[in-house]
This record gives sequence, C-alpha cells and structure tokens, in this order.
Amino acid sequence: MKVLVATDKPFAKVAVDGIRSTIEKAGFTLALLEKYTEKKQLLDAVADADAIIVRSDIIDAEVIEAAKQLKIVVRAGAGFDNIDLDAATKNKVCVMNTPGQNSNAVAELALGMMVYAFRNFYNGTSGAELMGKKLGIHAFGNVGRNVARIAKGFGMEVYAFDAYCPAEAIASAGVTPVNSAEELYTTCQIISLHIPATAETKKSINYDLLNKMPKNALLVNTARKEVIDEEQMLQLMKDRADFKYVTDIEPSMKEAFAAFEGRYFATPKKMGAQTSEANINAGLAAAEQIVDFIVNGNTRFKVNN
Ligand code: 3PG
Repeated sequence: MKVLVATDKPFAKVAVDGIRSTIEKAGFTLALLEKYTEKKQLLDAVADADAIIVRSDIIDAEVIEAAKQLKIVVRAGAGFDNIDLDAATKNKVCVMNTPGQNSNAVAELALGMMVYAFRNFYNGTSGAELMGKKLGIHAFGNVGRNVARIAKGFGMEVYAFDAYCPAEAIASAGVTPVNSAEELYTTCQIISLHIPATAETKKSINYDLLNKMPKNALLVNTARKEVIDEEQMLQLMKDRADFKYVTDIEPSMKEAFAAFEGRYFATPKKMGAQTSEANINAGLAAAEQIVDFIVNGNTRFKVNN
C-alpha cells in the first residue's frame, strides 16, 4: 500500500517524520513529492499511489484519472475546494479533510494581521488598538471559533454570522449572533472572513456588502481569494480611502491591489496553517485517517458522495 504525500508547500520536517512513522507502522510505504513545479511531476507520482495526502494542491480529474490504484485522498486541512469531488466519486475515490486540525494557526494569523493593519503596517506612525473594537466573524466554524476566543482576550466586541450555524450555538460561545451578513458588515469595523469557497460564496464579498462597513474599515481574509469579487473590491478601495484589506491569499489581480500601498497587504504565500503544530496536527490526522480507512473502512471525515 503506497501513500504519497504531495505538497507544493511542504509540511515541517517533524510532521513528515510523524506521518512516515504512522504509515510505516501500518506496514505501508511512504513516498514524498515536495515543492514540485510541474503538474507532470504530480501525475507521475500518483500513478502507483493507493492514498494521497495533500494541502492546497490541485487534485483535478486528470490527476485522479492518472492515479489508477487510488482509493483515498486526504486534504490535510479544512478547505477541499482544490479537489474535484465529482471526479473522485466517479472513480470510487474517497475524499476526506481533517477539520479543526489547523484552525488555531489560522486564527492566530488573523489576529496578527489585524494588529499589523491597525498599527499601520509597523511604519512607526501612530495606529490604533483592537480593544473595544467591533469584530465581525463571517462564518463560525473551527477557525471562526478560535478567532472569537483570541479576540475576546484582546478585549474586542465579537459578533458573528453563519448561514449554517444556529444563533444559539454562536451565543453559547459568548459571541453576539447577527441575522445576516449585511447586519454583520454594517455593525463591525473589522471583518474576519472564514467562509469556504463554494458555488454559493464565490464573489459574494462584493462592493455593496463591503461598503456597509463603518469608517476605518478593515477586511481580513485568511479564507479564500475566490470569495472576493476583486473588481468590485478594487472599486471600493478607490472610492473609500479609509478601507484597508489584509489577506493571506494573494488576489488574482495582485498588481492592481498593490497600488493601494499603506492600505493593503498580502502574504507572499498562504501561511495561515504554516506552523509546525498545525502541520503535525493535520498531517498526522491525515495519515491516521488513511490507515483507519484502509484497515477498518472508517469513512468518518469523508466529504464526497
Ligand atoms: C485550509 O483550508 O486548511 C487552509 O486554508 C490551509 O491551507 P494550506 O494547507 O494550503 O496551508
């Protein structure tokens, strides 16, 4: 049984060692493809793989069809928009994610980016504090909950909206639920995005929604670039000199955003989940889920049909 770890953005070595030990203890073999530059390298590496562990690596129909022995793909992380679920289902491949395993890492980065933006990108000028500010958490999943926990430590007023999470669940976490995205954006000076990229959410963060935010607004995106309507957001940044955008995912129109120096920052490579702790948690969970699936048929974290 061959398990391939295919990561364009490699895990920390300590996580790879842990994955190897879990895989080998089960009597399987581990193959590693890191920092690959061509899709051909991935297509060759998957040819004899029974299982694959990936991060944001694109597993499209071509990759799935090139992996003739493939039984399972585990996305070591939360979002699985990089995997063609229909192609996987068609080829009887089980797809899983590892929910919650890297959420604290992403949440810490979101708060770090808020401080960075509120302190004027550490340029030495007088900035502002997070204490007492209204933070709106857009989607209250694992990352959103961790953001709420940390933000309360900063003394922020925390609000959340999640179309799929009942208001009572938000309230029981000590966060104020609101009834709509519009209400969240109208209420909060800072919005932290934690929605997945789906057909429903793509380009949903648009001019009208963002323009509801109060003066000196800040949008923090540690979720996905696809949820932003970039053209409309660029227009908003032109129209509102008080609006700041910090993102862990470089926009497709990155040159146009770069024009807003002093109000815009993007990490050069997505780094929310790039901590050794998150790599160990998500990587080991992925390896354990593969062993449990192959040996016991456990499909607990399956996300396709
Ligand atoms: C996730 O969906 O788990 C995060 O966006 C992290 O993605 P990464 O593993 O590519 O860093």
